[in-house]
Amino acid sequence: MVETAGGRLHQRRGVAAFVAANKTLLAAAWVVGFTLVFLLLSAPLPPSRPAPRLRPTAYNLTDFGGVGDGRALNTEAFERAVEAIAALAERVGGQLNVPPGRWLTAPFNLTSHMTLFLAEGAEILGIPDEKYWPLMPALPSYGWYGQERKGPRFGSLIHGQNLKDVVITGYNGSINGQGEVWWMKHRRRMLNNTRPPLVQLMWSRDIIVANITLWNSPFWHFHPYDCTNVTVSNVTILSPVSGAPNTDGIDVWWSCKCYCRECPYLGIKERCEDKDCYRKRRYIRNISYHNITFDNVRAGIVIKVDYNEHADDGYDRTAFPDIMSVSFKGIHGRGVRVPVRAHGSDVIPIKDISFQDMSVGISYKKEHIFQCSYVEGRIIGSVFPKPCENLDLYNEQGQLVKQAVSLNSTELDYDI
Ligand SMILES: *[C@@H]1O[C@H](CO)[C@@H](O)[C@H](O)[C@H]1NC(C)=O
Ligand SMILES: *[C@@H]1O[C@H](CO)[C@@H](O)[C@H](O)[C@H]1NC(C)=O
Ligand SMILES: *[C@@H]1O[C@H](CO)[C@@H](O)[C@H](O)[C@H]1NC(C)=O
Ligand SMILES: *[C@@H]1O[C@H](CO)[C@@H](O)[C@H](O)[C@H]1NC(C)=O
Ligand SMILES: *[C@@H]1O[C@H](CO)[C@@H](O)[C@H](O)[C@H]1NC(C)=O
Ligand SMILES: *[C@@H]1O[C@H](CO)[C@@H](O)[C@H](O)[C@H]1NC(C)=O
Ligand SMILES: *[C@@H]1O[C@H](CO)[C@@H](O)[C@H](O)[C@H]1NC(C)=O
Ligand SMILES: *[C@@H]1O[C@H](CO)[C@@H](O)[C@H](O)[C@H]1NC(C)=O
Ligand SMILES: *[C@@H]1O[C@H](CO)[C@@H](O)[C@H](O)[C@H]1NC(C)=O
Ligand SMILES: *[C@@H]1O[C@H](CO)[C@@H](O)[C@H](O)[C@H]1NC(C)=O
Repeated sequence: MVETAGGRLHQRRGVAAFVAANKTLLAAAWVVGFTLVFLLLSAPLPPSRPAPRLRPTAYNLTDFGGVGDGRALNTEAFERAVEAIAALAERVGGQLNVPPGRWLTAPFNLTSHMTLFLAEGAEILGIPDEKYWPLMPALPSYGWYGQERKGPRFGSLIHGQNLKDVVITGYNGSINGQGEVWWMKHRRRMLNNTRPPLVQLMWSRDIIVANITLWNSPFWHFHPYDCTNVTVSNVTILSPVSGAPNTDGIDVWWSCKCYCRECPYLGIKERCEDKDCYRKRRYIRNISYHNITFDNVRAGIVIKVDYNEHADDGYDRTAFPDIMSVSFKGIHGRGVRVPVRAHGSDVIPIKDISFQDMSVGISYKKEHIFQCSYVEGRIIGSVFPKPCENLDLYNEQGQLVKQAVSLNSTELDYDI
């Protein structure tokens, strides 16, 4: 509850700050803001459950000078904590407990063999001023060209590259990107670089994200990029239905690490020797999603081999990924327009996807909202709404009930 109020308060403040040139309204918003902050601070905090010991060594963010008052900047505290964990013995790693509080920070990196544990009532807040956000090279799959804007992009609030064994979990603590200012600046074309995701892990493996809430990312919320063995479970993702452009929940991406043309830009010449690199198919596979609840979203699950979304034409048209072995289990919710849009292509079909224990309340029409194109896979047990014809039907015991009739049927309708 405390976190909810805090989040809303910020949203309101953000909205007031950019919608209103009118100083009175702004002042009123501040008064309301301070009153709420005062009430929140004076309300007795619920006793916090001690964090479980998930790694042999556990640190508390306050050990590194962290201050959870929503105002102090905790970037250094996070960085020092991560350094301390990186210095621990390989393999066993360490845990960073973030206690209840509002921990404002600029972007920071995670390290391997690390568990970030967010207590109940712990909220990591992204600082809304973009000058604190470092720029990074554009994503390789955009040919290093940039997406919303050409050139470098803003790095994510919580970031990691070439990591393994990373867990982000907790007692439903949250990571809040405070995206309102970013959305406004994006709408007004005030940003010269592509907006940052909230949590982004690149070229990493053995990742678990569980038992937390992601809020109001400036851009996508969780973006595993060219990662292996990623599990997301029991995660709540919240952002407004309107006014928050492109704030996807979970975006799983492939990339080819080598774009020979752009090597000079990267300064990695060795990779140029692998002439085949960007002809080699990369893949997205063995991804499982469990227990996801949608509340009032336009498209629930989207799987797509090509977004056709590039800052310019300098991208590799042949470098699409193979997508296979993606499972969805325990998918619920309400108010969803298109629960599933799985969009393979004749060159690259989507293979071996499965849906089990799915019942999603729909907000629009009944037909053709479970959309598939060039998709193979299976439905296990009962699934609502009625799945597309491309998928084999199995019963709960795993026996084939009905074979798919039209693997390539296309029911995509982007107008819904
Ligand atoms: C972290 O430190 C704070 C302040 O010292 C304390 O209140 C809290 O209980 C500690 N939390 C954990 C999980 O150790
Ligand atoms: C975070 O990691 C990225 C990629 O490895 C690196 O470029 C950046 O300098 C790191 N940032 C900090 C503050 O260490
Ligand atoms: C999901 O998260 C909530 C809040 O942290 C927790 O109470 C619940 O046990 C979790 N459920 C599962 C299946 O992990
Ligand atoms: C976690 O917190 C979010 C935001 O307050 C809430 O919407 C969600 O229901 C909570 N999840 C669980 C499992 O308690
Ligand atoms: C964006 O770029 C333009 C043109 O180079 C420059 O005038 C402007 O100050 C930049 N804006 C920001 C927010 O950096
Ligand atoms: C996947 O990651 C989990 C958790 O990090 C790990 O226990 C498991 O061994 C990994 N699986 C494979 C096949 O590497
Ligand atoms: C998520 O929470 C549930 C219930 O507390 C717990 O059993 C599970 O181990 C947690 N998952 C992770 C990855 O921490
Ligand atoms: C998925 O992972 C399992 C082991 O967890 C492995 O046996 C299987 O071959 C993997 N499938 C693909 C397509 O990588
Ligand atoms: C699924 O998540 C909800 C909260 O969103 C939680 O209440 C429930 O226990 C979880 N169920 C399973 C089977 O993990
Ligand atoms: C689906 O399309 C693929 C690729 O074009 C083709 O090889 C395959 O025979 C088609 N399958 C059906 C059932 O039409």
